Amino acid sequence: MNARNTELDVQITGMRIEADSVISLELQRPDRSALPAWTAGSHIDLVLPSGQTRQYSLCGEPDDTRRMRIAVLLEPDGRGGSREVHGLRLGQHVKIRGPRNAFELQPADSFLFVAGGIGITPILPMIRTAKRANARWRLLYGGRSRASMAFVPELEGLGREHVEILPADEVGLLDLDGIVAKAAAGAEVYGCGPAALLDALTEHFAAAGLSERLHIERFGAAPVVAASQDGTLRVILARSGATVDVPHGCSVMQALRDAGHEVASSCEQGVCGMCETRVLDGVPDHRDMLLSESERQRGNVMMVCVSRALTPTLTIDM
Ligand code: FES
Repeated sequence: MNARNTELDVQITGMRIEADSVISLELQRPDRSALPAWTAGSHIDLVLPSGQTRQYSLCGEPDDTRRMRIAVLLEPDGRGGSREVHGLRLGQHVKIRGPRNAFELQPADSFLFVAGGIGITPILPMIRTAKRANARWRLLYGGRSRASMAFVPELEGLGREHVEILPADEVGLLDLDGIVAKAAAGAEVYGCGPAALLDALTEHFAAAGLSERLHIERFGAAPVVAASQDGTLRVILARSGATVDVPHGCSVMQALRDAGHEVASSCEQGVCGMCETRVLDGVPDHRDMLLSESERQRGNVMMVCVSRALTPTLTIDM
């Protein structure tokens, strides 16, 4: 298990209702000692008492080494993770893994932050970081209704003149062309929110030839395997010399498991890092949301739950 996957016991030391169906949890070590350092855009794995694991962005203050904060939207029709979080109690202990950052804020003079609904969570510490760096920043925060939007007073406290609260039932949908225009004028755009918003942003930025200005995080929405263009891949397990063929449309992890090999996993969506595997030969086709661009270029690790290969074979350290 790599260091990113070490589990840490934490206690729930604060719970607040932040909006309709949204609560925040404050987490501290039981002895109040320092938590691992993190930067804006990071998330943790929350390991719930049932054993379910979910990924949540850290939305507190990155400089606060003793407290972490997450916010969770209750999704009654989801897989059950948010229901369990909403049933936790103050003082209860849970485990966390991480933090990891797949949505790093790169230094810039001007930022436009775009958040939809609970997608505000990674944006909050980004705003604090931009503010501290004396960068220009603006936030466009959309949501269904004002009552459904978390952290509005806190955001306005960070600079009311920079913050636009845009509930859809009052003002309609976000102005995507206006967002592209701000990027064209030099702003780096960081967005997080529902898939429909991120898809629309991606399309608008691509059409304007400004894709490199758009930075988004798609939590829990990674394609598991883009099967269509994927031929069969052969994986060689260096320690035993065994080979495993990964059929069209199947993940490397699933093929390894089908062949009787154990692979640790949590999210199975390329988010958590639990399945990180060393690559000894061949070129991975990275489809995770975790590795940085330089880690991708190095190509010596891959997330076998989602990534495949650009070469017909891959040799992995297993
Ligand atoms: Fe989470 Fe693969 S299991 S990245």
